[in-house]
Amino acid sequence: AQKKATIEINPEQGTQKISKHIYGHFAEHLGSCIYGGLWVGENSDIPNTKGYRTDVLGALKNLQIPNLRWPGGCFADEYHWTDGIGPKENRPKMVNNNWGGTIEDNSFGTHEFLNLCELLGCEPYISGNVGSGTVEELAKWVEYMTSDGDSPMANLRRKNGRDKAWKVKFLGVGNESWGCGGSMEPAYYADLYRRYSTYCRNYDDNKLFKIASGASDYDYDWTETLMKKIGNKMDGVSLHYYTVKGWDGSKGSATKFSKDDYYWTLGKCLEIEDVVKKHIAIMDKYDAKKKIGLMVDEWGTWWDVEPGTNPGHLFQQNTLRDAFVAALTLNVFNKYGDRIQMANIAQVVNVLQSMILTKGKQMVLTPTYYVFDMYKVHQDATYLPLTLSCDTMKLEKNRAVPMLSASASKDAKGAIHITIANPDIDNAEEVEINIPSLKAAKVTGRILTSKEVDDYNEFGAPEKVQPKEFKDAKITKQGLKVKMPAKSIVVLEII
Ligand code: AHR
Repeated sequence: AQKKATIEINPEQGTQKISKHIYGHFAEHLGSCIYGGLWVGENSDIPNTKGYRTDVLGALKNLQIPNLRWPGGCFADEYHWTDGIGPKENRPKMVNNNWGGTIEDNSFGTHEFLNLCELLGCEPYISGNVGSGTVEELAKWVEYMTSDGDSPMANLRRKNGRDKAWKVKFLGVGNESWGCGGSMEPAYYADLYRRYSTYCRNYDDNKLFKIASGASDYDYDWTETLMKKIGNKMDGVSLHYYTVKGWDGSKGSATKFSKDDYYWTLGKCLEIEDVVKKHIAIMDKYDAKKKIGLMVDEWGTWWDVEPGTNPGHLFQQNTLRDAFVAALTLNVFNKYGDRIQMANIAQVVNVLQSMILTKGKQMVLTPTYYVFDMYKVHQDATYLPLTLSCDTMKLEKNRAVPMLSASASKDAKGAIHITIANPDIDNAEEVEINIPSLKAAKVTGRILTSKEVDDYNEFGAPEKVQPKEFKDAKITKQGLKVKMPAKSIVVLEII
């Protein structure tokens, strides 16, 4: 069957920017995200560039990733950066207590991470240890990375082979401090934030953007307390929201699910809009000028690990369903760009809702990767508000899934980009897009879809779900007419 929907866009109405940092990523010392995923070492027989996997580097460069958060996650609050500098043979090992008890040899440390960011052309986002580290330790890490003077930590860095300081903008002061980052009460964390952040200095012309460890999902009290107590001392506050069934018991298979599971997933993922609106309303009370950013620095799907893999390594497959979670969520983030200044999907390689999966020499780009590829046109573009009218599927717990999701932006060259998702498994949708004063010459597009919503790319068959050219958008007198097949995600460019 074919349904109808309409979208109204006024290209002259855009006032706010979609920060490119909404398209950010996250790399934790967890499973094979770092070792085997990003880093194989220079002596590996897997093709590498200075130790970084060449295939993964190329794939991430293509995505134009704006920032990369590291070293965790929960790992960050047990990480001691001095263990990861200097000659590799002298670096002490540690137990990765959060993630399967794996032995971490610290061969990937500060230099390896910051050099990777330089290769990728992205901003590093350092997550500092507040849970088990000292104020002095974090203060010295900042000095080590960013001081160019004749300072003790800058000289230690020089001794370790790096003359010029790196630029580090984003600094997280703790992670999930209510949980794995120290099991703190919000008021206690707020005091610690004051103390730790005081000693994280701006060296030379490096200017830190300090991010407080924020709430989980529906914990509005955490945000309220932080805004009240440290609102004048932070540049951003984080928020974590996973599309997950719950924290006890099975989270469901990444690849074997029913139609009901599919719509439940989309309903849960879309609930993020209500959650961010409530956190934003609290922030607005204390910061009407919207100076402080809401940084959704962990989000995405969380399923059971793939059978036979280490339960502590969070390795999961990624289907067209995950691609919808990415598409729908990014359309929400784009809309709140006046407050949401950053978001980091968890995680970049081999962990949770990854962009990339690797196995030995093989690499697979996931359906989620392709959503980020299609949506990269929104990075730093002007957001164009739109109104959308379509059918909505009602689900339990007051959740609902509108049968269309969209966002639009205008880039520096004047090109308009529209990303549209039709999550309906069974029905195509004819979409009328009204764009007053459109003087378009040409519309082109790409589409991501597949036969089934549980289709995925696997080692040996890496090309099952891939974007293709989209030809079903036509210019009309009012704007555009677009035929969206069932379960499809489309990006359009109008020039
Ligand atoms: O992304 C996996 C984990 O989820 C992170 O380490 C932690 O911050 C969150 O609980």
